[in-house]
Amino acid sequence: MHIHKLEKQWAAIALMIAGLFVVVILSSALFHGIHAPSNVEAIDSARLHLSAEFAEDKLGVQQHPDGSVTVRMVAGRYGFYPKNLVLPAETNITFRWVSLDVIHGVHIPMTNMSTMIVPGYVAQVKTLLHHTGDYPLLCNEYCGMGHAHMWSNVKVVGKAQWEALNKQGGANHG
Ligand code: CUA
Repeated sequence: MHIHKLEKQWAAIALMIAGLFVVVILSSALFHGIHAPSNVEAIDSARLHLSAEFAEDKLGVQQHPDGSVTVRMVAGRYGFYPKNLVLPAETNITFRWVSLDVIHGVHIPMTNMSTMIVPGYVAQVKTLLHHTGDYPLLCNEYCGMGHAHMWSNVKVVGKAQWEALNKQGGANHG
């Protein structure tokens, strides 16, 4: 079978592009901690307010004895609850998300905290926040007329400062 030289060159270019994509995906996964969400955990979205984990008084930041932190949040048109979070930098954080209505997405820019929140399931993302500062926490999945207004505020502070705020009881209210 004869293959024209030009055709071979274009085939090589196409293969190189495919190879480049594989390299980008692998480097995102291995060096930037970006993975496809893989937590399959069902929950009744209509009864979140009665659930052991996502009732209103359970939401927000919880610190564990080993120093790690779990953040529980509910997404609903058009907001994330709670509205304000203060989180420690350089700490193992597990975000757990549920939706009370439709599919939302959630993203903290410049971090690997990004996932879809599908009603009926708990979305979970583990992360380390390296840089202190104020971040928006944005909905990035079109969910209705108020989609563009759906966000919460995240303030990342140094670990020692966060501990001090927590002792005063002031870190995570509201
Ligand atoms: Cu929620 Cu867009």
